[in-house]
Amino acid sequence: MLKIENLVKVYKDVRALDGLSLEVKEGQIYGFLGPNGAGKTTAILSILGMIFPQKGRIEVLGEEVFNGKFDEKKLIKVKYRIGYMPENATLWDFLTPMQTLDIIGEAFKMSKVERQKRSEELLKLVDLWDARNKKVGKLSKGMRQRLLLAQALVNDPELLILDEPMSGLDPKGIAEFKELIRQFNKGGKTLFFSSHILAHVEEICNTIGVIVKGKLRAQGTLNNIKREFLRKTGYIILIETSKPVKIDLDAKVEVIDANRYKITASRDIREELHDLIALQGAKVLTMQVKEPTMEDIFLHLISSPQSRFSGEIFKSFNHTYK
Ligand SMILES: Nc1ncnc2c1ncn2[C@@H]1O[C@H](COP(=O)(O)OP(=O)(O)O)[C@@H](O)[C@H]1O
Ligand SMILES: [Mg+2]
Repeated sequence: MLKIENLVKVYKDVRALDGLSLEVKEGQIYGFLGPNGAGKTTAILSILGMIFPQKGRIEVLGEEVFNGKFDEKKLIKVKYRIGYMPENATLWDFLTPMQTLDIIGEAFKMSKVERQKRSEELLKLVDLWDARNKKVGKLSKGMRQRLLLAQALVNDPELLILDEPMSGLDPKGIAEFKELIRQFNKGGKTLFFSSHILAHVEEICNTIGVIVKGKLRAQGTLNNIKREFLRKTGYIILIETSKPVKIDLDAKVEVIDANRYKITASRDIREELHDLIALQGAKVLTMQVKEPTMEDIFLHLISSPQSRFSGEIFKSFNHTYK
């Protein structure tokens, strides 16, 4: 559906994309997650042929649109099958939602009858039918975002690319937007959307790609990313003992206070801990395995890009990718 390989984009002295590779499969809701400045918008603009990367390969909907340079013919063909909602998109405030969609339909060379039918369908879908004849300038932020989404859907795209579609929305707006994404995906369509906020992608995406400094740091389902994190970085075990003990195991041990410890191990060492502590004539008062949250993992990925964990995930991804 969408494949990016070793994409490089350098702006003067900024390496915005530094060998980015990722793959989106048909029917996925793919969350493209990364902190501000990671290169998300640059990647999206590259897919759409709106900026020129220096190196790499891009395949969209089975067409190789870029391989060191753009194939303009293929790009135009493919763009008819893509919907795109830009980051910080502007709307014409003096038009109505109905007129806005009509203009987009014209750009896609749809007939007047077709345009009217499609506009009605879409405005009902995004719950703007009642506001169809209001001036866009009078709409709330949430309504404007939904209109932008409708605008991206006019050509009934197979692939929908959204750049930070939920930024600036309140919780209700976010919930409504997620519901629209789900509906679109139910029809078998593929979604690729970027965000710098984990909560925006967490419950809705079945696949996540984490981009940091122009490189993919992890890709997979949330569960896989989590499992990999546990495998590489380890279990966090919090224990409290009846008296101070010496923990001499293959693990990182931090003393929280006299008899409370935080242990990070690459495997589950609870039984060994029990034995070791008993041998020293002490008792385990409490023992707790701390599951990392997705937030912990995301923070880890973005804060230590050179960590063993991220390197490994990237490698294993590349492995399955080839
Ligand atoms: N037109 C540009 N000229 C110079 N630098 C740019 C330009 N666009 C983006 N950048 C830089 O490239 C990096 C990636 O930006 P961007 O793709 O917008 O990140 P994101 O969308 O993840 O926030 C940032 O360091 C940004 O400052
Ligand atoms: Mg951006």
